[in-house]
Amino acid sequence: MIDTAVSTPTLKAVNLSPLRIPEIQRDPLAFLQRSAAEHGDFIHYPLGLWEVFQLNHPDLIEHVLVTNQRNYSKNTVQYNTLAKITGRGLLTSDGRFWRRQRRMIQPAFHRQKVLGWGQTMMTATQKMLQKWQPIAQSGQPLDIDEEMMAVTLEIIGQALLGINLEEDAVELAQAVLTMLDYVVYRSQRPIVLPLTIPTPRNRRFREGLQKLDALIDQAITNHQQGRGSPDDILSQMLAATDRETGEKMSRSELRDELITLIVAGHETAASGLSWLFYLLSQYPDVEEELVAEIDGVLNGRLPTTDDLPNLPTVDRVIAEALRLYPPAWVITRRAIEADTLLGAPIPANAIIIMSPYTTHRHPAFWQKPDQFYPNHFLPEAEKVRTRYAYFPFGGGARLCIGDQFAKVEMGLIVTAVYQKYRLKLLPNHLVVADPLVTIRPKHGLMMTLQRR
Ligand code: HEM
Repeated sequence: MIDTAVSTPTLKAVNLSPLRIPEIQRDPLAFLQRSAAEHGDFIHYPLGLWEVFQLNHPDLIEHVLVTNQRNYSKNTVQYNTLAKITGRGLLTSDGRFWRRQRRMIQPAFHRQKVLGWGQTMMTATQKMLQKWQPIAQSGQPLDIDEEMMAVTLEIIGQALLGINLEEDAVELAQAVLTMLDYVVYRSQRPIVLPLTIPTPRNRRFREGLQKLDALIDQAITNHQQGRGSPDDILSQMLAATDRETGEKMSRSELRDELITLIVAGHETAASGLSWLFYLLSQYPDVEEELVAEIDGVLNGRLPTTDDLPNLPTVDRVIAEALRLYPPAWVITRRAIEADTLLGAPIPANAIIIMSPYTTHRHPAFWQKPDQFYPNHFLPEAEKVRTRYAYFPFGGGARLCIGDQFAKVEMGLIVTAVYQKYRLKLLPNHLVVADPLVTIRPKHGLMMTLQRR
């Protein structure tokens, strides 16, 4: 139900002149923010051939993601473009097929299983910290965004495929980045040349995809021939059977799910971490509180997953960073059949836009909407907040399957880093949020490491 004590959204129809479309392409975050500020919680505008509804109020978001979620599909430009890489993987599929795949994959992401990846996460983090040692001594700056991309890729590669990243990391990283670059390019343009035409970009995309496919194919073959680790997620997926039909996943289904998990689980966590380090560098009081908690709980020993429940400040700074810079900054759906939202008709095929970035900064739901204020996540504040004012991992049946994985990974990395260093933004380094597949710092994140 709409909480009338906070605000009652009313539908406002807006006519977007075609001139504003390039403006949206140039800076979609600013556009979403501005339309919310100018037109409120429930906005309707034509965009090209589409009837678009931008929902900024948590209750409207809950309706689409939860209450009537079966009426809203992922048949949108956002997901159809991603599907060029991920095929019919979990992130982009719908309906019965999606439900079956989710049932089969879900057990590999239960919290207990995720906690089992703690050691892998810490090994990759320790390796990164060792590499940082001489850089810290030299006082040279480091692009923390690049570092986070590398460490999260290493972790997901190990957890998923048991891939020996000493050999494959660079190749895998390049292939994934090429793919993501193409997704952004394509989703920003209504018309592009088909992939079969060998433009330089299309060629790069196809070569990247071939590399990724080859790596994944090799990993599947290794596992089928008993040369994989029995604990990794691919082994669990190979063993999974559909409880209704007793069938296993086909090779191409496995391929789509593995690429999906790499794409969905790598850059998202890296983006969350980069913004967290940036925000901590801007708010020394919060940084101080974090450091005191880490030192008090760990007393110099390395963190493990058993420590995470005793580190509530770590939890809160992560939640707050994901509020201000939710990596998945926009979530779209298409109405399958006509629906009604607060009495307003939503026609079949309407496109729904929900932006965690915008709702997470909604002044009616947050005490300090634009500041890094982890107390937003104190238990007493969480208790009274409207559900879906905060949805960095989406919600309802399509809730992120990797939310626990990401939280544990981010918790261990930030704890291990702050146990050793404070990260300082290089003076004059311009930090600009760039909404690509996830929100990334446009010019990287050049920081120096100050030994604690
Ligand atoms: C901070 C990190 C992460 C954020 C912010 C994030 C965010 C999201 C969001 C918002 C969705 C829902 C999209 C929608 O409803 O349209 C989603 C779905 C998904 N995420 Fe994540 N994610 C993160 C990490 C991960 C990780 C680590 C994995 C895997 C290892 C992962 C795998 C997936 C998959 C497979 C889906 C599709 C689930 C389905 O529809 O059944 N994500 N994620």
